[in-house]
Amino acid sequence: MNNDKVQCVILAAGQGTRMKSEQPKVLHQIVGKPMVQYAIDSAKSIGSLRPIVVIGHGAEQVKNTIGDRVEYVLQSPQRGTGHAMLQARAQIDPASDTVLVLYGDTPFIGAETLQCLLAAQRDAQAALSLITFTPNDPALYGRIVRDANGRVVDIVEYKEATSEQRAIREVNSGIFCYQTQWLLEHLNKLQPRAGHGEYYLTDLIGIAAQEQAITATCSCDEAEVLGINDRAQLAAAERLMRDQINLRHLLNGVTLIDPANTYIEASVTIGPDSIIHPGSHIKGKTAIGRECAIGPNTIIEDSQIGNRVEIVASLIEGATIEDGVDVGPFSHLRKGAHLGADVHIGNFAEVKDSTLGPGTKQGHFSYLGNATIGANVNIGAGTITCNYDGQHKHPTTIGDNTFIGSDTMLVAPVTIGHDAKTGAGSVVTHDVADNELVYGVPAKPKTTSNP
Ligand code: UD1
Ligand code: CA
Repeated sequence: MNNDKVQCVILAAGQGTRMKSEQPKVLHQIVGKPMVQYAIDSAKSIGSLRPIVVIGHGAEQVKNTIGDRVEYVLQSPQRGTGHAMLQARAQIDPASDTVLVLYGDTPFIGAETLQCLLAAQRDAQAALSLITFTPNDPALYGRIVRDANGRVVDIVEYKEATSEQRAIREVNSGIFCYQTQWLLEHLNKLQPRAGHGEYYLTDLIGIAAQEQAITATCSCDEAEVLGINDRAQLAAAERLMRDQINLRHLLNGVTLIDPANTYIEASVTIGPDSIIHPGSHIKGKTAIGRECAIGPNTIIEDSQIGNRVEIVASLIEGATIEDGVDVGPFSHLRKGAHLGADVHIGNFAEVKDSTLGPGTKQGHFSYLGNATIGANVNIGAGTITCNYDGQHKHPTTIGDNTFIGSDTMLVAPVTIGHDAKTGAGSVVTHDVADNELVYGVPAKPKTTSNP
């Protein structure tokens, strides 16, 4: 293992012209996570000192999205990758051993490959090292020029390459590491390119070659160093990342009926023997237990779901669902919905900020908000908690084993006892005692005056 102090610098200031977007390129999301966040996570995975992120285009937006987990350096205007590093120079910890440069638009790089680069650098005692790869189509990547002895002597950008150089298939991933002291001493030798005035970080290769400094390389698969420059590459990256996540679940014992049509974010956990049907989107901090059946056509976000839960064609946001519950089709659980064990939620039901006790049933088109509902309660079709008076939200409480008749309006605040009953069409404006039956508009107990 490598005990060197590594300082990561993430270049993320470029405009990303080819994205044709108002949004900075590095904030475009891949499987629900901004592109630049992948580089930050990679930096953390190899134990970097607090990463430095060079921002420029859309700097405020990037800061607001990523927050203060990293150090920022502003590069304005953006005059190339070398210029970006020159701006970061003052923030680089001179006590670090190694500086590792990652790109905000290269999200797939794995920790193992980065460790391999750091090891190559250390073993060769190189001044700098880089990751190269050899794709089928070297496209617009910078070409790696080697001398007769196989030493890397230059990197030539596609647009400046001769046709002979364009034929080179080994290309630059953009991921470099440097001996910190060597970098600090050599960065200001970079010169702007004639014509457009951009500073190329890749020119340090030529400078190192002239000084006979040692350059090490390490190669990896194309898939790890795909650069995202346009929406076609973004879509390809989305597919690739999704496949990786889905494969992990498949190998963990989760059935995905159609992985290509299943959308699971990296942070989600799913227990074995659960089945995910097509058209399911599972996002954020969601945990799903074992033996569940999710989908088809279900969206779940930031929710905790127990074992043996079935959810069909529904939207679940910020909810907690205990074992044995079934939901849907076409229902909506919102923030703070908490369903006890074996609750049944049928179609066109909405639940927000409410707890439903074990075995309670809400079968057909109804709304429960700010409600605390006991065990084995029947919520009749069309029941509504009228929880909002235009200014404030009010609570509804219902005791165990109570039967709420179809089309009951529960005008909150209101408390209904256990084993009580409301007649169909009741408008309940007053509390209902345990074991009491009320009906009518407004609802009254069954007495001689309300026969
Ligand atoms: C760069 C490399 C190329 C390599 C390719 C790999 C150079 C000159 N070229 O080309 O050899 O094959 O990456 O993907 O280094 N950035 C800044 N400030 C700037 C310009 C860019 O922070 O002024 C950032 C961008 O946000 C991006 C990264 O640097 O994250 C790379 O910039 P980009 O313009 O995409 O470089 P490429 O043309 O792809
Ligand atoms: Ca790029």
